[in-house]
Amino acid sequence: MIQKPRGTEDLIEAEVKEFFALEMIIRNIVDLYNFSEIRTPIFESVDLFKRGVGQETDVVSKEMYTFFDKKNRELALRPEGTAPTVRAILENKLYINEKLPLKLFYFASMFRYERPQSGRQRQFNQFGVEVFGPKSSELDAELMCVAVNILNAIGIENHTVHLNCLVNDEQRKKYIIDLKEYLKSFDLCSDCQTRIETNPLRVLDCKVDGDKFVDVKDMKDYLSDEDKQYYDDLKKDLENLGIDYKEDKMLVRGLDYYTGFVFEIKDDKGSTLLGGGRYDKLVNELGNIDLPAAGFAFGMERMILALKNNNISLSPQSSLDAYVIGLSKKAKQFANILLLMLRNAGLKVDVDFMDRSFKSAFKQADKYNAKNIIIIGDNELKENVVVIKNQETKNEKKVKFEDIVKTIIEGK
Ligand code: HAM
Repeated sequence: MIQKPRGTEDLIEAEVKEFFALEMIIRNIVDLYNFSEIRTPIFESVDLFKRGVGQETDVVSKEMYTFFDKKNRELALRPEGTAPTVRAILENKLYINEKLPLKLFYFASMFRYERPQSGRQRQFNQFGVEVFGPKSSELDAELMCVAVNILNAIGIENHTVHLNCLVNDEQRKKYIIDLKEYLKSFDLCSDCQTRIETNPLRVLDCKVDGDKFVDVKDMKDYLSDEDKQYYDDLKKDLENLGIDYKEDKMLVRGLDYYTGFVFEIKDDKGSTLLGGGRYDKLVNELGNIDLPAAGFAFGMERMILALKNNNISLSPQSSLDAYVIGLSKKAKQFANILLLMLRNAGLKVDVDFMDRSFKSAFKQADKYNAKNIIIIGDNELKENVVVIKNQETKNEKKVKFEDIVKTIIEGK
């Protein structure tokens, strides 16, 4: 039998409902913050990610699903949503002043060729927000507030906001010189021996050796006066909003575009639920337009896993207003018309299509959590009635055809 590709998932029944319920809660929250939705293509030019996310990042150098189309264009299934959003803003000229600030969100499938494990797939779904326009610490705090708001709304209250601020320009160069000097005394893993040349900050994030670098110098001590002031303002804004955070000098993030504050939220087991930060140069790098920006994203699957670990279910148990059992061919034909009437009245109903015995049709009704069972036989048809059994009260009564809809609605 052909099986699903490694690192992908089939979502079935209750799992889909849970996903949907999570999405609805998030949609309601981002609506309160006045965000609007953006949808970009599932594949993009490979160059977008090479230039946008960074050639040396793991995402681009190792994890992209790339392919050539029939005209030999090199394309990639999108591994993340920030670079495509920037591309869409530039291409659709959404950067004009009257549209700013642009507050966008997306739900989208992402693809990364990673080693699958719990909470890490090769196809996963991200919810993300990106804000373009102002460089404002209040806005950055608002972004983190959205993230915390979502987590609290779904009941994952046991989490920690990790915060750091990346250095830029000349200060970054100085920091990297000192970092390389510091790292000389360590036996680095093979990946980090490359990273130290191509992307030295990422060494701090190493899954193998990261824990060893505890006394590395704090990047924040290298911040320019302006960046330091901004970061201090951001911390004050977070405090004003009642958002607790933990400063984490090891937090560097795995994508190259960040230029200021970065943050991740981890659950009580230390696994990362979401991440993001400020990326003020990306729009310029991709489109020669100065447009500061910040955002974050989380994996929907990771959130669902966290909900499961906390024994939280967001989707209400589903039920039917009525389940119809037709006992003869004629009764089944009538049942079909009845179902249409009931559905037109906004009632959720279903019928036994499987020719089950009376007993197992009842069992099926229980499985569907039906509030009523409507039984139709030839005798009932002759009398122009059906039997309605209310599953909650266990009352059973004959109801005239014209009163069926009313009876079900009243029993709701
Ligand atoms: P990221 O840290 O690569 O950032 O991914 C964000 C989140 O996506 C992660 O925290 C995690 O919840 C989820 N995620 C990542 N990889 C996987 C995977 N293989 N399986 C399941 N979930 C995964 C970004 O993607 C940035 N674009 C975030 C951002 C938006 N920064 C600014 N704006």
